Amino acid sequence: MTGLRMLRIALWGAIGLAGVAFALISTGLLPKPDATPDATTASVKEIGGSFRLTSHTGKPFSDADVKGRPFALFFGFTSCPDVCPTTLYQLSGLMQKLGQEADRMPVLFVTVDPERDTPEQLASYLSSFDSRIVGLTGTLSEVDAMTKTFRAYYRKVDIGDGDYTMDHTAAVYLMGADGRFVATLDPHEAESAQIGKLRRLLGTSL
Ligand code: NI
Repeated sequence: MTGLRMLRIALWGAIGLAGVAFALISTGLLPKPDATPDATTASVKEIGGSFRLTSHTGKPFSDADVKGRPFALFFGFTSCPDVCPTTLYQLSGLMQKLGQEADRMPVLFVTVDPERDTPEQLASYLSSFDSRIVGLTGTLSEVDAMTKTFRAYYRKVDIGDGDYTMDHTAAVYLMGADGRFVATLDPHEAESAQIGKLRRLLGTSL
């Protein structure tokens, strides 16, 4: 067991990997386990990795841009009626409470609807939230690869008249400075508990 792993276990001991896995399963982030806890733990460890997308400023953005820093990541789309704006609003509130501390923790909003969410559309949408949030889009295949890297689910849903909406994983992923998955933010938790979780995440910063 490496020192970093022990540190993570100490930090997140109260939650426990089993609890994290349960949270992921209940949010639809992970498929149901085939009963063995080891299989679930292995799946959690596989969340994250390299990616290459385009930011809302039109610049390339990849895993190299968050290397060595803890970061938060969330999948959504700008036409989302409720979950996405609520989550972005909550994240903005947490970032404001953290103040300059949050400068060390990139917060990424990755669209699952790149056909409509151009960099310009993301920039316009994100102007309603904390200005440090980075919107990310790309080609259909780049976005698809990103969702696979983070074990996220999304699906286009026809709602008639040529219109569509997107089903998607709503969890906010908290990733450690080593690029590995640490936990999800629970939106039903008290804000102070969420702030505590983010501060512990920031404590793992290199
Ligand atoms: Ni949404």
